[in-house]
Amino acid sequence: MCGIVGITGSDRSVEILLNGLKSLEYRGYDSAGIYVNDQAGHDYLVKRPGRISNLESALTPDVHGLAGIGHTRWATHGEPSEANAHPQYSTDERFYLVHNGVIENYKQLKEEYLSDVDFKSQTDTEVIVQLVDKFVVEYEMDTKAALVKVLRLISDDSAYAFVLIDKQEPDTLFVAKNKSPLLVGLADGYNMVGSDAFSMIKETNQFMEIDDHELVIVKPDNVAIQDFDGDEKNRKPFTVDMDANAADKGAYPFYMLKEIDEQPAVMRRLVSEYLDADGQPMVEEQMLADIADADHIYIIGAGTSYHAGLVGARMFEKFAKTPTTVHVSSEFAYEQPLLSAKPFFIFLSQSGETADSREVLVNVNKNHWPSLTITNVDKSTLSREATYTMLLFAGPEIAVASTKAYTAQIAVEAVLAKALGEYLKSEDAKDFDLKHELATVANGMQAITDSKDKLEEIVSHYLSKPRNAFYIGRGVDWAVSLEAALKLKEISYVQAEGFASGELKHGTIALIEKGTPVIGIITQDRTAGLTRSNLEETQARGASILTIVSRHLAKEDDTVILPDVNPYLTPLLSVVPAQLLAYYTSLGKGLDVDKPRNLAKSVTVQ
Ligand code: F6R
Repeated sequence: MCGIVGITGSDRSVEILLNGLKSLEYRGYDSAGIYVNDQAGHDYLVKRPGRISNLESALTPDVHGLAGIGHTRWATHGEPSEANAHPQYSTDERFYLVHNGVIENYKQLKEEYLSDVDFKSQTDTEVIVQLVDKFVVEYEMDTKAALVKVLRLISDDSAYAFVLIDKQEPDTLFVAKNKSPLLVGLADGYNMVGSDAFSMIKETNQFMEIDDHELVIVKPDNVAIQDFDGDEKNRKPFTVDMDANAADKGAYPFYMLKEIDEQPAVMRRLVSEYLDADGQPMVEEQMLADIADADHIYIIGAGTSYHAGLVGARMFEKFAKTPTTVHVSSEFAYEQPLLSAKPFFIFLSQSGETADSREVLVNVNKNHWPSLTITNVDKSTLSREATYTMLLFAGPEIAVASTKAYTAQIAVEAVLAKALGEYLKSEDAKDFDLKHELATVANGMQAITDSKDKLEEIVSHYLSKPRNAFYIGRGVDWAVSLEAALKLKEISYVQAEGFASGELKHGTIALIEKGTPVIGIITQDRTAGLTRSNLEETQARGASILTIVSRHLAKEDDTVILPDVNPYLTPLLSVVPAQLLAYYTSLGKGLDVDKPRNLAKSVTVQ
């Protein structure tokens, strides 16, 4: 994963790098570092293990410069330490490099070319910077040629986004990418590069794409893009419409709580973006024609996005009568099932950068199959490379645990299912009053987020101590159980699992012991009674049972009662108490809710 940023041409370089890194911290927070030079013979390298705040405290006022690079790391090769933090540099301290990705053949390169070099770190990145240095110093190549030679030696299955500085050309950023995200930012009198637009948005809203296997030379007043053969490429800048303050935490202690609370507003925004005054979907006609022409929809996603796909698939089958299957991207990429004759692919990705999902998209494009990316990040890699894009309009999601993006993904899938169903003249789609339903959902979400005290109290009684917990449900409630359990485990480190409630008795029930919390999600008429029986079976074996239940199915001692909505949209409500239960469990344990251990927000390695 990792986040990288570079700047040339501003005496505010240190501040700009630090701001960029802070907004990229979601991509990894094991260690961080910057290198800056003032083009008058002074340069500074500062690296620290741990969070960006550690780096910030180490930046004394004398650290200044006109150009520099910065990095926040999610360790892939080598433990998180100062030595393994980036920038990595050559032994003669001439070249400095930040890297996001994985160089698959770095060991071979090291053995073949660098057996005489004394390495300071265990990183694949140091191999690259030492190699550039070797080609420049020993083979007397210029820096650009040396870098291209190195890029050609890197195996094609590798992923990288590089920004290199040569002290002898101190105002130049040498930039290249393959599979990992990287953008150029064009500011007034200076230029930047960064892993995403957000890391530069305080400085500019003008950006330039970089394609795989391109080399970009960024100077304060000029950006030149070329391929490895030196052929120049013309590239038009594009504007990103993003509120630079949208990512402020305000009075909230953690982004996750803010993002949970934003969900009603996101639902209302989606209504205004995608439904007209009569509730008719406003969706690209050509895309509907392409999907209607397909005989099967394949939804591809990872983690929470995969879980949102499980909910969406049911709507595509119900409202648009189109067979739909959902696949974990990292599996689909290497174990592609036998596909139908006319597939259409939907990629769900909050970040639009997930490497596992992109691996699938690359193959989809090779086969010229049509695709749609549903993402929160406009112009992200998956959005640029798919045939169509639908945006989530959820605003920046900063907390590592996804909340508002999950509900936005389900709502956008609902819009698409209705639009496609109407296009295909399905009666079910015509009768699906989505505008009214989403308004009810927004109010319902508000009611749930207004009852936080109750959820905090439930946590202190049931969830603060146990090591294990289970969410169970059937059908769409099972899909939400998976997401609810993921939320709990990733931020509170409780071993939580989501199960199809009918499956418990086939093995998992052996794990139930006195006090194990089992949370039943009950929103579907047909299966409510069955899930209640399954809950009782666990209670008879000592479990502490809790319930999240739709109002019309509720009984007196149910724990959380949800407003009634269309049965296909209940996940939009049932997930909210689960998000809050996870939040308060993590908070109660004194953990960093927004930045759980070992994780990163945008997973750009496979
Ligand atoms: C969990 C979470 C992850 C992401 C997954 C895919 O809370 O956020 O499971 O859903 O890494 O990320 P995107 O949606 O950016 O492709």
